[in-house]
Amino acid sequence: MDINEQLIERRKASKKGGGEARIEKQHSQKKLTARERIISLLDEGTFQEIGMFVEHRATSFGLDKNKIPGDGVITGYGRVHGRLIYVFSQDFTVLGGSLSETHAAKICRVMDMALKNGAPLIGLNDSGGARIQEGVVSLSGYADIFFRNTRASGVIPQLSVIMGPCAGGAVYSPALTDFVVMVEDTSYMFVTGPNVVKTVTHEEVTSEDLGGAKAHAEKSGVNHFTAGNDVEALKKVRDLLTYMPQNCNELAPEPTVFEYNDSKRSTIGTILPENNTLPYDIRKVIDCVIDDKSLREVHEDYAKNIVVGFARIEGKTIGVVANQPAALAGVLDIDASRKGARFVRFCDAFNIPLLVFEDVPGFLPGTDQEWRGIITHGAKLLYAFSEATVPRITVITRKAYGGAYCVMNSKSVGADLSFAWPTSEIAVMGAKGAAEIIFRKEIASAEDAAIKHKEKEDEYAEMFANPYRAAERGIIDEVILPEETRDKVIAGFRMLENKAESLPLKKHGNIPL
Ligand code: HXC
Repeated sequence: MDINEQLIERRKASKKGGGEARIEKQHSQKKLTARERIISLLDEGTFQEIGMFVEHRATSFGLDKNKIPGDGVITGYGRVHGRLIYVFSQDFTVLGGSLSETHAAKICRVMDMALKNGAPLIGLNDSGGARIQEGVVSLSGYADIFFRNTRASGVIPQLSVIMGPCAGGAVYSPALTDFVVMVEDTSYMFVTGPNVVKTVTHEEVTSEDLGGAKAHAEKSGVNHFTAGNDVEALKKVRDLLTYMPQNCNELAPEPTVFEYNDSKRSTIGTILPENNTLPYDIRKVIDCVIDDKSLREVHEDYAKNIVVGFARIEGKTIGVVANQPAALAGVLDIDASRKGARFVRFCDAFNIPLLVFEDVPGFLPGTDQEWRGIITHGAKLLYAFSEATVPRITVITRKAYGGAYCVMNSKSVGADLSFAWPTSEIAVMGAKGAAEIIFRKEIASAEDAAIKHKEKEDEYAEMFANPYRAAERGIIDEVILPEETRDKVIAGFRMLENKAESLPLKKHGNIPL
């Protein structure tokens, strides 16, 4: 065999991974192989592999006789919609995709390159965790990755796709990245698995219930996007990347064409119910303002009382944050505050303007929320908005009550433009509660307390259940008709295109965690 043929044979051996039987097993579990996933993710023919022949150097427990070129992870770079990305894809067919010292070094190498060259990093995770035979060096390999995830945070977008097991401390790399996509039925994430849970807390739980895609999408919020299978997950990543810039010094790409169905301009005025205590779906309002079919909800199944997601206006990426009156009346609670804050900070880090729709009755009262720290968690959203320097526009559709009014991108916390629909109510609280407090004595001493209460409630509503007190004070910039919203938002974002604002010089802020 001549030397060129030797190379070709070596390449073939590396590409076989753990061999036919294990590839077969992977396929029988409805999972693609690590290499198939990369091909699915990238534009055709663009993958350039780095470190194909890397092998581990461990000798304990017979590992010296169990070496497979590549060492359980495929790393390199390629293009998505023509734009550079870096990728690693763990190969479960090689020692269960377990992370050795060299496996970690390969991942770190592409992370370093992604950071140096300012392009997103996509991690495709499918691994049994730390390579048990290697002991502490594999743990330190994980820590090397966590360190780089953190250093790259806010510099390049980092996306993690969970396509198999992800347990123990291994979950912390995905947790440090910007977005997690989980595949239904074939992926799970937990710090300790069902056996340890049973021993320690005597709870009986399956892997799926403990840490499957649904559990993390609905209960913990660890999972931002759920996909039905590997191909769908990778398609989602390709799509999401079209909303993001390559790095924090760039803007998101601008698609040349966008569509907007003009009939939505009139539909928008018909969405709010006449009765201001009835719910409506804020997504219908969002849909009437943004380019057609451009909303990509993040955390769709978590804290449904707030809607966050990427969208486009005139083809340009924006981030949308909106109270959702259709869930818990759109109240802000711990989960909604955390969800909103995390998204606002991603958008701000990556120069994505923010459009906020506000209809919020306040923060959720109760011992559960107070004792679990709504004060600290609510402050996260306040902090995130206050810190954001990207263009920011607020549209108040109905209620803007109390502290939640301040939090939801009010002008005082730095919104550049604040619009209110004629249906807006901008007040410390709802008229009924306000009347109860400030006219308590009058109501108590009245002949008919109920009539008096209603009279005082109407008096307060007359004063504040409209946008004009706020407009008189300049607390909002303009009262607009619902059908004017898209045009006002477009004009606003165009006006803000060259916004340049910087924070006071500091090492970093101290967000309430
Ligand atoms: C070495 C491993 C491995 C590991 C799996 N394998 N996990 N080898 N280190 N961590 C190997 C298996 O020996 C097997 O090799 C092959 O991968 C496939 O594994 P199976 O068990 O046959 O697959 P499956 O039945 O699908 O089960 C998958 C699994 C199970 C649930 C992930 O393998 C498992 O429980 N593995 C151990 C998980 C774990 O405890 N990891 C350490 C977590 S602690 P052969 O040669 O038989 O095919 C951790 C700390 C990180 O990760 C801390 C970071 C700070």
